[in-house]
Amino acid sequence: MCGIVGGIAQRDVVPILMEGLKRLEYRGYDSAGVAVLDERQHIQRIRSVGKVAALKDLIDGAALSSSLGIAHTRWATHGMPAERNAHPHMSGERVAIVHNGIIENYADLRQDLSAKGFTFTSETDTEVIAHLLADVLASEPDFIKAIRKASSKLVGAYALAVVSPDDPDQMVVIRAGSPLVIGLGVGENFIASDVFALLPVTQRFIFLDEGDLAHVSRDEVRIFDDQGRQVEREVRTSRVSASSAEKGPYRHYMLKEIFEQPAVIAETLEGRIHKGKLLEDSFGFEAKQLLDKTQNVHIIACGTSYHAGLVARYWLEEVGIHCSVEVASEFRYRQVVVPENTLFVTISQSGETADTLAALRGAETQGYLGSLTICNVPESSLVRESNVALMTRAGPEIGVASTKAFSTQLVALRLLVLALAKRRGMSTERERELVEELHALPRQVEVILELNDAIKEMANAFAEKNHALFLGRGSFYPIAMEGALKLKEISYIHAEAYPAGELKHGPLALVDAEMPVICALPDDPLLEKVISNLQEVRARGGELFLFSDQKVKIGLDRFQNLTLSDIYPSTAPIVYTVPLQLLSYHVAILKGTDVDQPRNLAKSVTVE
Ligand code: F6R
Repeated sequence: MCGIVGGIAQRDVVPILMEGLKRLEYRGYDSAGVAVLDERQHIQRIRSVGKVAALKDLIDGAALSSSLGIAHTRWATHGMPAERNAHPHMSGERVAIVHNGIIENYADLRQDLSAKGFTFTSETDTEVIAHLLADVLASEPDFIKAIRKASSKLVGAYALAVVSPDDPDQMVVIRAGSPLVIGLGVGENFIASDVFALLPVTQRFIFLDEGDLAHVSRDEVRIFDDQGRQVEREVRTSRVSASSAEKGPYRHYMLKEIFEQPAVIAETLEGRIHKGKLLEDSFGFEAKQLLDKTQNVHIIACGTSYHAGLVARYWLEEVGIHCSVEVASEFRYRQVVVPENTLFVTISQSGETADTLAALRGAETQGYLGSLTICNVPESSLVRESNVALMTRAGPEIGVASTKAFSTQLVALRLLVLALAKRRGMSTERERELVEELHALPRQVEVILELNDAIKEMANAFAEKNHALFLGRGSFYPIAMEGALKLKEISYIHAEAYPAGELKHGPLALVDAEMPVICALPDDPLLEKVISNLQEVRARGGELFLFSDQKVKIGLDRFQNLTLSDIYPSTAPIVYTVPLQLLSYHVAILKGTDVDQPRNLAKSVTVE
């Protein structure tokens, strides 16, 4: 949800800002812009609608260069994608601002500022901040004090970077609800929404706390907390290499990330299982204390991560743990009854999803035992604010459609289930079996990936379709939901998921020869029931696209099927996800959509 980057150096920062924007583009890509202070200390601003590449053409044409600048790539909230709404926003020649987040009281502020004579050129909430700061500067010449004063009037969540000719040797940043990191160099420093943006220039980062304001100059970074006290924040070295966020030989990040799954699943298991045993000590001491007391689990997440939670509910209840799962945007605004000894679990790739974070913060006073997050970004807010973090080690996920994050979330959830099942008397023999099944998973996914060409062929049948129905039962119902979400978000085909048994209660009316029906058919106790449901579809002329276990006898008249072999029930939902990801990918290619950056979406949803 919008990406911001800034730099102050001895050298030209414009190429660094442009590379940072490219790396942040997954957060939003409807428009982009840069503002720099030129050698006469004037603000030069260039903005453009569309992707960062369009901005780059303008920047190259203008030969823009400077040793101090800020830049932004936008995901529209207030105001349509248009150059006038693109950041940076300015108030006269006095300040330029980039912003990630939402200012909730912007309408009131805009009214007040308009009454004072400020002219607005955009519909954004960000321009309000620029004028508010200019207004405060009129009576408070100290730039830092003015920023502090102006920000105290803002209601909402935001990360801001500000430059001004009034203070030409530093930029000022504030973190209040949206992520912001400072990248440390020698004689140069940078800021950005995430570390990936800055990996080409540094590995050393400071993660600001909520409410922090920092002065970032060439030689130093001074940080003040929300009370205005100067504070030290830990400097951390990122282990992520600059190239891990690159596409390599793949045409799209999404394809690369699908194919990375065997490796990142193995990475997520590394040091956590060994010789048929769960190595629970690797979760940490605090985890042990929490899990010892856990009787119930409440899982909160959004989107794909929510689907992972839904699968885990089946797994947890199988071992006797009561589990409820809810999307964060609903949970955070309702009264909840929390049974005694309930563990609050969040699942998130980014660790910055605003609704999930707000749910965690709200849960702190609701009587939960404690919080555990399953997350992919070690430095994220969710990790920092949860009692315990079980990291998914999927590496940077850049494609907007989540793939490897989902499969590694499921792996982490399997580990959690094992830990809780052991406390409920699971035998060492059963533990050994389940651990071995996890151990076999990377190889099984590798085998599924060999079906890529066959799935590409299958995708041809979808190119002209406008709708699709995904069916599943048991833990494969959430997998059907995930399959439908992938297809709709990257191919723009309307897709719905239904529990197969519910079909006859309504959706069967939609089925005809134009309605492809996709279903995973694992060899499980619900198989016969699902096949009966598929018979109902065939009887109405629906076209079936199946992924079945080799052992399964389908006994239907016409369908397309790809068989999967040697799948274990405990990990089958993870394995069956992979062909659905590939199917969506190939359908999107046929449709000619922007696979990695589908329209209207952004990764890391840091606004409500
Ligand atoms: C879909 C997708 C989204 C995210 C959702 C939550 O492919 O990626 O639905 O799963 O926005 O994001 P995280 O997991 O970062 O909290």
